[in-house]
Amino acid sequence: MEALKRIAAEAAVAEIADGMLVGLGTGSTAAFAIAALGRRVEEGLKVTAVSTSLQTAQAAEKAGIRVLDFADVAATDLCIDGVDEIDPHLRAIKGGGGAMLREKVVATASSRMIAIADGSKSVSQLGTRPVPIEYLPFARAFVARRVQELGGNAAARLTEAGSVFLTDQGNPILDCSFGPIVDPDALALSLSTIPGVLGHGLFVDQIHTLYLATAAGLKRCDW
Ligand code: 5RP
Repeated sequence: MEALKRIAAEAAVAEIADGMLVGLGTGSTAAFAIAALGRRVEEGLKVTAVSTSLQTAQAAEKAGIRVLDFADVAATDLCIDGVDEIDPHLRAIKGGGGAMLREKVVATASSRMIAIADGSKSVSQLGTRPVPIEYLPFARAFVARRVQELGGNAAARLTEAGSVFLTDQGNPILDCSFGPIVDPDALALSLSTIPGVLGHGLFVDQIHTLYLATAAGLKRCDW
């Protein structure tokens, strides 16, 4: 599995050209992309990056990549990130690492987003995994009720130690199980319009290209 993540990540990083401003995703697959980009920078590639999490910013800086504060950046050239699930229309569930709010901002700010994944992430229909929702603590019960009205079952995300998981912004997450998601676009819109929802992990129109690495080889899918 790790080798497959690396193959997908390296294929995406090969698309980065001199002078680009690159959005770097979060997670174990994105970590392979950061390592591969670090090697290219060492070889002389001139790029700058923005990060989707504190963890990624640290890893990128350690790899020798110059990281800008995204607050000063209005647009990026390319974004590379992992997914938790992705369907044949390149719609995805993200946020297993809790970074989906920043990930969606950076993906949307990018001219192009490349998703990188091993074969275990490919599904015919989204919904095997819950959709993470980052919410305003003030609105917890209200958001959970709205999720329930949409057919979802909301569970508070906890850390391994059992305390409430908090994002890089200091907000909690509800992991919302909907079962098979028949209309991801409609669900994404419904979740986005709940007051108190700060961000969610359904990515329905951000991903342009997928590099999917399986035992059978590397496949590229374009939207
Ligand atoms: C983090 C994410 C990750 O990209 C997603 O969870 C995939 O992670 P991994 O590559 O470790 O399986 O969305 O918020």
